[in-house]
Amino acid sequence: MDQNRHEAIAKWERRWLALSGLLALLFVLLIAYSLAIEGGHIAQRSGRASPEELTSHELFQDPGVRAMGPNRFQVTMVAQAFSFDPAEIVLPQGAEVTFFVASKDVLHGYQLQNTGVNVELIPGEIASFRATFDKLGEFRVTCNEYCGIGHHNMLGKVTVLPASQYAQYQRAEVSTQAAGAEEALGESVYTANCSACHQATGQGLVGAFPPLQGHAVDLYGAEGGREYLIDVLLYGLQGPITVAGTSYSGVMPAWQQLGDEEIAAVLNYALTAWGNDAVLPGGIELYRAEEITARRGTGLSPQDVYERRQTLALE
Ligand code: CUA
Repeated sequence: MDQNRHEAIAKWERRWLALSGLLALLFVLLIAYSLAIEGGHIAQRSGRASPEELTSHELFQDPGVRAMGPNRFQVTMVAQAFSFDPAEIVLPQGAEVTFFVASKDVLHGYQLQNTGVNVELIPGEIASFRATFDKLGEFRVTCNEYCGIGHHNMLGKVTVLPASQYAQYQRAEVSTQAAGAEEALGESVYTANCSACHQATGQGLVGAFPPLQGHAVDLYGAEGGREYLIDVLLYGLQGPITVAGTSYSGVMPAWQQLGDEEIAAVLNYALTAWGNDAVLPGGIELYRAEEITARRGTGLSPQDVYERRQTLALE
């Protein structure tokens, strides 16, 4: 009798053991399924960076997309309440991307709609994961950890373009950046070389140095003015002039020592700063370095340039 009961219990014990074994197996299979079929990822901790040192960390000084090889990219991104930097990124179809994402303050999430990407961003840790973008379109990024009052507005976007469109996008991006760099160069050349006389405000100094605000555009607009402005910078100007009823007797030195790009940039700066862009004739082409190169070596003197100025039909 006792023996029978013991065996009955042992039978149930074996069943329960088998059941828990099956359950454990099921969980492992679910994880494997999500990783292999659904494109799930396990984020790896790829280093630590405390929120305070994040901006000086080499990965996050200039967050964004970086090409690492043929269709291989690295994306670095900083999350903070309540935004991602950069919030929007553009990638070509098929891009294989390694992400490095870190939080600057509290716990955030990085979830990429319609992909397997769903990562927790723990302050102090750099989350790293890979993703391949085969599907075209726009994918929403959301923060999926409640992080405060603006949590629901913490959004981003990944746009995946066909290769040809991506190349176009990149070219546009490069020229916007170049334009920004040109503008910065123009301003720095102006500050270093021109502002002592013509002033940072472009107003000049009464009696000595003529204003560039307004006047630079007037000169440009006169026939031959475009070339004349290049000559003034390359060869200087000497002789009394009158601008808006005020006479000026200062001497403009020659700036041949500046590079062609610098001269083009500073001319463009003078034509667009201080509100000049508002009075500049529409559709004009900005100066290019080649134009400056072409006018070097004519050996004009500051007096020659002065004579040229007399022939410009200025009001
Ligand atoms: Cu960040 Cu929610």
